[in-house]
This record gives sequence, C-alpha cells and structure tokens, in this order.
Amino acid sequence: MDIVTIKKIIQAALLGCTPDNSTVFRYAITPLTTNQPTIKIFYNSEKVAGKSFPKDDPAIYLALGCALYNIKACCKELSLEVSVDIATKENNSDLLALISLSKLPPEKEEISSTIQVIKKRHTDRGAYHKKISEKDKQAIQDITTRSTRNSTLLFESKDKSSLIKLIQKASEIRFQVKEIHALLKNSLQFDNSQPDGLHINTLALPPGGKYFLKFISKWDNLALINKIGGYKLLASQETALLKNSPCLLILRGKGSQLDFISSGEELCHVWTSLNNAGYSVHPYYVIPDILHRLDMKTLPSKHHVQAEHLLFEGAALLEKDKEFVYMILRIGKTKKSAIRSTRPDIESILSIEDH
Ligand SMILES: Cc1cc2nc3c(=O)[nH]c(=O)nc-3n(C[C@H](O)[C@H](O)[C@H](O)COP(=O)(O)O)c2cc1C
Repeated sequence: MDIVTIKKIIQAALLGCTPDNSTVFRYAITPLTTNQPTIKIFYNSEKVAGKSFPKDDPAIYLALGCALYNIKACCKELSLEVSVDIATKENNSDLLALISLSKLPPEKEEISSTIQVIKKRHTDRGAYHKKISEKDKQAIQDITTRSTRNSTLLFESKDKSSLIKLIQKASEIRFQVKEIHALLKNSLQFDNSQPDGLHINTLALPPGGKYFLKFISKWDNLALINKIGGYKLLASQETALLKNSPCLLILRGKGSQLDFISSGEELCHVWTSLNNAGYSVHPYYVIPDILHRLDMKTLPSKHHVQAEHLLFEGAALLEKDKEFVYMILRIGKTKKSAIRSTRPDIESILSIEDH
C-alpha cells in the first residue's frame, strides 16, 4: 500500500460531516514500511479546543462515526480488512480512534468509485419542494430502513408538526445562550480566507441575511434584539424551512460513547445514500445539543425550565424505549443546488509518525 492510497482514504474521511465544518480531527499514519499501516484519528485540540464542541461531546462522536464510515467504505473497495479501536472516554490524550489496516495486498489501488459516492454527501440548507411523489416517499423509506437501526421517518402528520414545534423551542433556547452563540461565531466565515468553518454562502440566507448574520454574530447585538424577542424570530426562520419540507427523520440511540459513534456511521450511511439517490438532506442538531447540555448541567440555569419543558412535551417523540434523539434530518428534493463547504488541505491535518 502506498502513501497516495492512504492519503485518498484520509481525504475520504475529511469529506465526512463535522459540526459547523470545523476541523475537529487530525490524522496520523505509521510508516508504510511496517506493512500493516495504521491510521490514528485525534481530536484537533490545537485548532478547535474551546472553539468547537469538546472532545467527549456526542457531536464529536457522531462526526467520528462519519469519518470511520468513509474510511471503511474505501477499505472495502480495496478489499482491505480494517479493525477499529476506539480510545476510551477517560483517556486524557487527544487520541479518538486507531484503525489498523490488514496486511492483505490491496486488490486494486483505485478507490475512485467509492470516493465519487462519498463526495455526493453534503448539507443542503436551501428550500425543498413541499410535496414529493409516493414513489419518492417509498424510496426514502427504503433507504432509511436499510441504513439505520433506530429511526423514525415522519411525513406530513401531527407528529411532524409537533417535532417542528419542539425544534422551534430548542432553537429559541439556543439563540439565548452565549456559549452556544460563541460556537457559531467562531465558525462563521464571511470571506474565503479559511478553507473550513461555516461559510455564509452555504447557509442559503434570504436577501440581506448576510448583513444581519454579521450583526448578530456579535453577542451584544444578539442580546439586544433578544430583549424584543429576536430569538423567536430567528428560530421561526429556521422552522419555516422544516414546515415546507416533505419529511423528517429522527435518529436515536442509547447514549453511550460507542453507540454515538456507530450511529455516526449510520448517519453517514443514510445521508450518503439519500444524496446519491437524488434527495437532499439538512441536519438539525439543536434538540440533542440542548438536551445534552441540560443533562451535563452546562446549560445556564435560567434555561432549565424551558429545556425540561421541551423534554416533557416531546417525551413520546424524543425519548423512546430509554433511547435519546441523536439527530434530526430534513429530507426532500431541493429547489436549487446547494453551495458546498470546502475542506482544509490534507497536509495541514496529516502527520507521519516515526515509531
Ligand atoms: C454533530 C453534527 C451536528 C450538526 N448540526 C447541524 C445543524 O444543526 N444545522 C446545520 O445546518 N448543519 C449541521 N451539521 C452539518 C455540518 O454543518 C456540515 O456537515 C458541515 O458544515 C460540512 O458540510 P457538508 O455536510 O456539506 O460536507 C451538523 C453536523 C454534525 C456532524
């Protein structure tokens, strides 16, 4: 196995989803002369600590699952056996996962067809057609059943409207929490000086939205407009898109570190499959994020009652059989192709270990 192939595998991992398109991972490979190469995935603390989600946050585990899914897909095409060791939550280094590749000589060095499939996965934050055909509904249903163990698909229904109201409430909380606002502020990119982060062109903003976003990216400004209910307006803008989309998917799990990671793999599987079948996907992480912060006691106490209400009112939809909601996906057929996020250069996140 040569360095070019290994780099292609890591490039595929980089194409996975990460919260706010932040460069949350860095990669290391052992010398390829060992004949049994390993890829290590680290939390990129130098780049994102204090600026994105912490190392042991479910958001990081979901993103790790997505990177692993892409690595495994490439290895499958190369007929390489992979074994993955996940670093325990308690380890205090930045190591998240170690992937050992088999000694088997790859049957083919080209992984272009898998990469083409992986490349199609992307976030589409634009408007979708409200109605889809029965054939499309069936296709979405088939894809989600095939690629997820534990999910609920909601087409137009009372449950879908209830879920949208819950997302609205969670979003209202989010726009009032300085710490969450700081994550958005840290990742927002208004020009092309950075290859990562959340570029405003990928946000499908209404006219003037860019200037408004720039204005509220300063916490003091957001805090000011919040006094007259700005957070409600911002949240309802987000939910308008949900109301006008044909379906939502809720992904759930048991809440352990390993389960978050394997659900991240499923998230990537369902998302990649939907995009490759011509359906658009837009993830909403606001409910799991608020509930996780409530659980970890990192949500400011003045929002506890609102967050507990959210949980109480949404109990039937959000927590089923002692399982928690991990992610909600808006799915549909887009009206306009999405502007894609870019990624940093592989050399900036890859090192070769000499032992
Ligand atoms: C854990 C997690 C949470 C995310 N939450 C949201 C979200 O609430 N809203 C959103 O628009 N995108 C969300 N995303 C999508 C990322 O912003 C997106 O994957 C990233 O910007 C890279 O873009 P791409 O998916 O087009 O490759 C989330 C991604 C992950 C992994």
